[in-house]
Amino acid sequence: MSIIAIARRNWALRLSVVLNVCVLLYVCAHIGSSGPWIEEPPTNWAAAPETYDLANGTQKGVATSLSSSSSSSSSSSVAIAVKDAASANNNNNNNNGGVGRPLRLITTTPPPNGAKAEALDKSREHPRNQTTRNGTANVAREPMSLKEAVACNEKSTEPRRAQRGDYWVLYNYVPMSMAVRCWESVTYTTHADYTFLDNLEPLLERWRAPISIAMHAPGTDFPATLNAIRYSRNCGSPLVSQLVTFHVFFSSKHVPKMVPPSEKIVSDTYNCSLGPPWVNVSLAKMYKNEKKLLYPVNVGRNIARESAPTFYVFPSDIELYPSPNLPTKFLEMIRRRDQPALHKPNPKVFVLSIFEVDEKSQPPNNKTRLVQMLKAGTAIPFHKKLCSGCHNVPKSKEWQEAPETEDLHVFHVGKRTGSFVHWEPIFIGTNNDPLYDERLSWEGKSDKMTQGYALCVLDYDFLILDNAFLVHRPGIKIFKKDTHRDMLTAKTNALIKKIIMPELKVLYGTRKGCAV
Ligand SMILES: *[C@@H]1O[C@H](CO)[C@@H](O)[C@H](O)[C@H]1NC(C)=O
Ligand SMILES: *[C@@H]1O[C@H](CO)[C@@H](O)[C@H](O)[C@H]1NC(C)=O
Ligand SMILES: *[C@@H]1O[C@H](CO)[C@@H](O)[C@H](O)[C@H]1NC(C)=O
Ligand SMILES: *[C@@H]1O[C@H](CO)[C@@H](O)[C@H](O)[C@H]1NC(C)=O
Ligand SMILES: *[C@@H]1O[C@H](CO)[C@@H](O)[C@H](O)[C@H]1NC(C)=O
Ligand SMILES: *[C@@H]1O[C@H](CO)[C@@H](O)[C@H](O)[C@H]1NC(C)=O
Repeated sequence: MSIIAIARRNWALRLSVVLNVCVLLYVCAHIGSSGPWIEEPPTNWAAAPETYDLANGTQKGVATSLSSSSSSSSSSSVAIAVKDAASANNNNNNNNGGVGRPLRLITTTPPPNGAKAEALDKSREHPRNQTTRNGTANVAREPMSLKEAVACNEKSTEPRRAQRGDYWVLYNYVPMSMAVRCWESVTYTTHADYTFLDNLEPLLERWRAPISIAMHAPGTDFPATLNAIRYSRNCGSPLVSQLVTFHVFFSSKHVPKMVPPSEKIVSDTYNCSLGPPWVNVSLAKMYKNEKKLLYPVNVGRNIARESAPTFYVFPSDIELYPSPNLPTKFLEMIRRRDQPALHKPNPKVFVLSIFEVDEKSQPPNNKTRLVQMLKAGTAIPFHKKLCSGCHNVPKSKEWQEAPETEDLHVFHVGKRTGSFVHWEPIFIGTNNDPLYDERLSWEGKSDKMTQGYALCVLDYDFLILDNAFLVHRPGIKIFKKDTHRDMLTAKTNALIKKIIMPELKVLYGTRKGCAV
């Protein structure tokens, strides 16, 4: 309430002083989540692109390989990684042979000609031989295993209930069935209400690695959310139950009537002929909308990110689909350690360029195809029509002109300053990066700006990746006037300016060129 009061009292002041900033934030502000928390009917446009095989327990997909924990003696590079893990696993992790977790997930690179197996063997013989070179030679260190390159601690994936500010959270409420070690993969972390779960399958087809998703489910949206989770796990791609961990949260003022135990949801079946529970949902009748609740986007983002089982996390919005094989290629780049930018002392995150494609087009599978689509006008840079300044990535023109190459590299090191001072990048990072401010809502926009400010003050390097990218679920956004949302946006901007910014200055300090 005090915020509203402040907002009103300072109306004139804000108009004159902040208008410029507001206008910019106003129009652009949010990313991926941008869209259709409101309308847009679900489309299953990418149920099964035939280029990737659907995992069904024996899949031979490139990025994700399953192997039972007892079969680590097979001769593939994946098996070597498993053996490596098993023998070198002397720390606190209790997953090994844990109850009901027969499958293990490994996201490794397919080595061309077995080079990697050699590298792994070698690095086990000389695990700490990094002292042979100095200074600039850092760049070409001895090969090492992924486990050594990603030093991390395992995290509990047990279901638990906890309070988080005004919210109750059911962490790991419906856990993924596969086990993964913290160094083995990258987790896509995201948030949604149940009407967005139709994105899971097309997302998984491309990602094929763990997803940690926080579902907002107040009041009677809770049973509907459970049905949507049951449907996703039982009626579509087996990747969902294998790789997706669902967390559920709701305001303590909107607790559902009943919360079944976690094991019940895991073992539940669903009558698939009833169809997906997110089809033909009357949005006006959803509990959240009937009660006029705001969507607590950053509570969801933080829950999903903090609960990710892996060291590397990819906080994204569920409608942003990554280019295929990203986890594998990313981890291989980390293991290689041959990118000079990786050895700079600054904290760093790995940025993906984002694009939109028109409704009739399938998202491109590779950069070559993407560039063709950009030239043909069937793809455009993300939010070009809403706010081209907000999501523009440094050197984007050069990025588009650079031909696709093998593997993944750092294309350019950007900063969130100059003409990128309001940049809202989407990036692979870790849980050491600043979190998102939980007072900001999706409706109020600017929900990633305060994190961006913190990253700037901390002097983060934004390492832009060359051959990987994100594509928004098909359909190009156009600007729609929404006066209620405009009002909330104005309130949010006042909150950021009057309350959050002064806090951030105390907590992170200031740096020339940084702004929210
Ligand atoms: C699943 O595996 C079975 C045999 O193990 C195979 O016949 C079937 O085609 C597979 N399904 C998919 C969708 O890959
Ligand atoms: C470390 O690597 C170098 C080659 O870079 C090799 O000559 C040397 O023998 C290795 N040292 C040990 C202790 O393995
Ligand atoms: C360290 O690097 C410098 C320049 O790159 C080189 O001249 C010097 O010999 C190196 N020292 C050792 C011990 O390798
Ligand atoms: C599943 O739903 C269909 C359609 O509503 C219904 O006809 C069928 O009897 C249901 N099956 C079971 C086992 O409940
Ligand atoms: C959804 O609604 C449309 C039109 O209102 C109808 O044609 C369609 O059958 C409905 N789909 C389901 C799954 O109920
Ligand atoms: C890129 O994708 C296109 C179309 O999906 C395909 O024809 C082409 O072979 C792919 N190129 C590479 C290098 O994978």
